[in-house]
Amino acid sequence: MNRLKFNVIHFDELDSTNTKAKELALADTEEFTVVIADRQTIGRGRGIGRKFFSEGGLYMSVILRPDMPLEDLSLITLYTAVCVHKAIGKVLNADVSIKWVNDIMYKGGKVCGILCESSESNSNPGSSAIVVGIGINLRATEFPEEIAGIASCFDVPDSKVESVKQKLVKYIVKGLSKYNRALADRKFLTYYRMNCNVIDKQVNITGRGEDYVGVVLGVSDNGELMVFSNRGAELLSYGEVSVRELVEQ
Ligand code: BTN
Repeated sequence: MNRLKFNVIHFDELDSTNTKAKELALADTEEFTVVIADRQTIGRGRGIGRKFFSEGGLYMSVILRPDMPLEDLSLITLYTAVCVHKAIGKVLNADVSIKWVNDIMYKGGKVCGILCESSESNSNPGSSAIVVGIGINLRATEFPEEIAGIASCFDVPDSKVESVKQKLVKYIVKGLSKYNRALADRKFLTYYRMNCNVIDKQVNITGRGEDYVGVVLGVSDNGELMVFSNRGAELLSYGEVSVRELVEQ
């Protein structure tokens, strides 16, 4: 049996593991190298200027070097959510779900965010890479006011945090190492759909002019959200819109 070998580069503190991983990717660092930081001072979230609260959790970025055009890689973000969802199930046995496109939810709050970024070099096109950044809230901590109502964490005891981190990294990277095949055959989408918590739900859709309400019909083979609303049936792309489940008051 082939054992996956990968390098882990650990820092006590970084501005952002994604920024460091992108720098390393441009310097020809090997595929599946993992950058980890105990804290991030400017952990980046999805969306311009969005920060990711980065204390008391696992903050990691993995360098991938796909042998397909970067623009064909939109599904990597859904595949990463599947890898993280499975790893959390194995290591923490926690009941988590996926909120399209790739937030991992626990006890009604976001417990993990994923940010995939490309790192392209004009001077050295051969060094193009994807950096997959993952942040998981592990330890009980006081969240800043602006995310206190929307974030959650696993309450891992201090004495177990290090071993939990190591196991999560191992399972996540093992999952990611199969990305070429997974993106080609797309079988992972069955798991994604089974664990996606907005399917069949009413959601508020933001990002296409005025907010509106629709029902989620499913997730397409290209990772778009299929919704039906008074505008008719639509496919919504990741990056273009965000959705929030409508909860009856
Ligand atoms: C989101 O907005 O949900 C995405 C958050 C992604 C956070 C992770 S933490 C590790 C990596 N480094 C970063 O700066 N961001 C990602």
